[in-house]
Amino acid sequence: MTDRPDLRVNIGGIHLKNPVMTASGTFGYAREFEELIDLNRLGAIIVKGLSLEAAKGNPPPRVAETPCGMLNAIGLENVGFENFVKDKLPFLKKLRSPVLVNIYGRTIEEYARLAGRIADTEGIAGIEVNISCPNVRCGGVAFGTDPLAAHQVISAVRRQCPLPLTAKLSPNVTDITVIAKSAADAGADSLSLINTLTGMAVDIHSRRPKLANITGGLSGPAIRPVALRMVWQTVQAVNIPVIGIGGIMTAEDALEFLIAGASAIQVGTASFINPRATMEILDGIEKYMKEKNLSQLSDIIATLEI
Ligand SMILES: Cc1cc2nc3c(=O)[nH]c(=O)nc-3n(C[C@H](O)[C@H](O)[C@H](O)COP(=O)(O)O)c2cc1C
Repeated sequence: MTDRPDLRVNIGGIHLKNPVMTASGTFGYAREFEELIDLNRLGAIIVKGLSLEAAKGNPPPRVAETPCGMLNAIGLENVGFENFVKDKLPFLKKLRSPVLVNIYGRTIEEYARLAGRIADTEGIAGIEVNISCPNVRCGGVAFGTDPLAAHQVISAVRRQCPLPLTAKLSPNVTDITVIAKSAADAGADSLSLINTLTGMAVDIHSRRPKLANITGGLSGPAIRPVALRMVWQTVQAVNIPVIGIGGIMTAEDALEFLIAGASAIQVGTASFINPRATMEILDGIEKYMKEKNLSQLSDIIATLEI
């Protein structure tokens, strides 16, 4: 048995001590979890999606439970970048886990201006560009479903910000590899996928949609097989690291993504159900490696036998 497997991995220029990251929007600004887990054990922390200005998001109801998952239409409520720097970043800077900022804009110019501000701010290890939010009227997914628009946004952010750049892709497309290649060509250092799948639910008594926004993003175990398939397809199509996201609840789920070719994973909805999910997933990956006598994470990544 290997005593202490080496879980380190480099994701497009960010050195992670292990592959377990938090998914944007499901972990607040990390302080919310301070009492519940050891934040310094996380491979990386990705904070709630930020825009230049603070945003109120969509009206309630904004979440609905579904079989094996949930629908949300938060609409990217956030404190705005300047408040984030003033109120949230000082705490995050003291942690020993790298912090990635997830961003979105309504226009390419907004993405670029925010990226420029991030480049001038100390304490941020990387940027995750959300081109995939299905719950906002303009911006978001409009850029993630058109290869040309995806290229333009990622290039604009790339020009303004030298930090490691991850493009977060939408599953609401026919062929995810087309957008993946476009984001990679535009200069993304890595790709993260998937964001939520657009869905809807109806209250049969009131005959009204369960979400005020009518449609919302489906997350949780229900989307995992779709996410895994898209990660596997994307890994074949690009030469940059891919971060797997979608319904990862346990170490076994995370291992499926790593074996299929993901270099790291993000834990989202699972943290709402079990706030210690990230820690349990990390322990479980380490246990698996010890049992299988694997000394390095690269002994798992992209080892799918076909
Ligand atoms: C309540 C909620 C809020 C989210 N907010 C964001 C966000 O601000 N930016 C973003 O890129 N993704 C956001 N996401 C998407 C997640 O980061 C993740 O991609 C998705 O939920 C799939 O992973 P999961 O099944 O593990 O939750 C959000 C998801 C949920 C459930």
